[in-house]
Amino acid sequence: MLAIVSLAIFTLLPRVSGHSAFFHPSMWGFNVTDKTFDYDNRPVAPIKNMNFDKWWFHNHLDYPPNEGDFFELPVGEPATAEIACNKGATSYFASSEGGDIRDPNNPNNVCPNSGTEAYHTLGFDDLEGCALAIAYKSDVKQVQPEDFTIFSVNQTCVWTRFTEFQVPARMPPCPEGGCICSFFWIHSPNSGGEENYMNGFRCDVTGSISDVPLAKPTVARRCGADPVNNRLQAAPANCTYGAKQPFYWFNNERNNMFEGTYSPPVYNDRYNFLDGAQDDIFIDSYLSVPTPAPNAAMPLLADVSAKLPIASINDSTTAIAPRACGKADSSLSSGDGSTAEYAKAKRDMSDAHRPWSRSRIALMSRRSRKLDWKKRRSLWNMW
Ligand SMILES: *[C@@H]1O[C@H](CO)[C@@H](O)[C@H](O)[C@H]1NC(C)=O
Ligand SMILES: *[C@@H]1O[C@H](CO)[C@@H](O)[C@H](O)[C@H]1NC(C)=O
Ligand SMILES: *[C@@H]1O[C@H](CO)[C@@H](O)[C@H](O)[C@H]1NC(C)=O
Ligand SMILES: *[C@@H]1O[C@H](CO)[C@@H](O)[C@H](O)[C@H]1NC(C)=O
Repeated sequence: MLAIVSLAIFTLLPRVSGHSAFFHPSMWGFNVTDKTFDYDNRPVAPIKNMNFDKWWFHNHLDYPPNEGDFFELPVGEPATAEIACNKGATSYFASSEGGDIRDPNNPNNVCPNSGTEAYHTLGFDDLEGCALAIAYKSDVKQVQPEDFTIFSVNQTCVWTRFTEFQVPARMPPCPEGGCICSFFWIHSPNSGGEENYMNGFRCDVTGSISDVPLAKPTVARRCGADPVNNRLQAAPANCTYGAKQPFYWFNNERNNMFEGTYSPPVYNDRYNFLDGAQDDIFIDSYLSVPTPAPNAAMPLLADVSAKLPIASINDSTTAIAPRACGKADSSLSSGDGSTAEYAKAKRDMSDAHRPWSRSRIALMSRRSRKLDWKKRRSLWNMW
C-alpha cells in the first residue's frame, strides 16, 4: 500500500531530474514532452543504442521550429545558449509542462533542486565540454551526419545554464533560409553511463565579413594527454587539424567513434577541439595538413589575418555592412528580461571557477591552448 501511495506521489511530481539539453525556440522538439512519444523523448533524454532514425535530430524532425525562429551566430562574438536539465529552468519555462522552476538565487543553475550528478559531472574539474556544429544547408532533410562541422566549443560545459559559444570571425554567410545547427555533448565517464546528446536547431550567421567556405569536416582523432587512461603525453601530430565532424558514438548505426565506455570522445584538447571558436575550419586555414599519425609532420597554419578587412579587427558591425537577411530576430535579448538575468549570472561565475584541484599539467592538456597566427609553426604548444 505504502509503495502504491509513494509511486502515485512520484508520478504526480514534474519530471525534473537528470540530463541536459540546449533550449531555444529555433530547435526541433521545442515543445516535445515525455508524453509526445511512446517513450521519454524529451530534448534532455540521452541518446544511445538507437537506430539512425531514432537518434538523428533526437527523432524530432517532425517537430520543427516555427517559421522565422533562428538562433543567431554573430561573427567574432559569443552567442549565448541556454542549457538546462528541464525547459522549466530556462527563459522558455512558459511552454514547459512543469512551469517555472528557475533558481531565484542562481539564474545559472542548470538543474534546480538537484546535485551536479543530474547533469553528469562530479564537479568543475570533471567537465569534458560541449559543442555547436553547423551545416551550410537550409533544408534539414538534406543534412547528413558528415555535413556537420564543429564551429564552437565550450570546454567547461555543462556547468552554467547560460553558456557562451564564441563564433569564428570568418564564418561565411548562410544560404537563403539560414543554416542548420546542432548542440552536441558527451559527458564525463565518472558521472553516468555512455550516451550522446544532440539538439538540432535553425541558425543564421550574422555580420559576416568573409566568403571563404568551410573545409570538408573529417573525424577527430584522439591525441591529447589522458593520464586516467595511462597516456601521459599528448601526440600532437596524431591530431586532426581543421574542420571536424561531431562525435557519433554508441548508437546502432552511423557511428564515427568507436571508443570504449571509459574513454569517451570529448569536445576538448584530447581531440584537438580548442576552447572557444574553431578558427581553423576554413578551406584556406592550412598551407599543408599531412596525414595524421603519432610520428607524422605537423601541419602548417596559413596566415589568414591579411584576408580580414583591417576594420573588422576593431569593429566589424559598423565598418562592414552585414548581409541583408530580413529575418525575424529571435536572439536572447528579445523579450523577457533574460539579458539582465544573464548579466547577473555572469557575475556569479567567478565563484564557480574557484575550486580547482587537478594538477596544472592535466588542466593544460584540456583547456589552455589558443591558436596563434604569429606562432603558426608551433600548433600544439600554444600556451
Ligand atoms: C510551443 O508552445 C508554445 C506555447 O503553447 C507556442 O506558443 C509555440 O508556438 C510552440 N512552438 C512550437 C515550435 O511548436
Ligand atoms: C563557456 O561558457 C561560460 C559560461 O557562459 C563562459 O564564462 C566561458 O567564457 C565560455 N568559454 C568560452 C571559451 O567561450
Ligand atoms: C592516434 O589517434 C587514433 C585515432 O583516434 C587513436 O586510436 C590512437 O590511440 C592515437 N594515438 C596516440 C598515440 O594518441
Ligand atoms: C578602434 O576604433 C576607435 C574609434 O574609432 C579608435 O579610437 C581606436 O584607435 C581603434 N583601435 C584600433 C586598434 O584600431
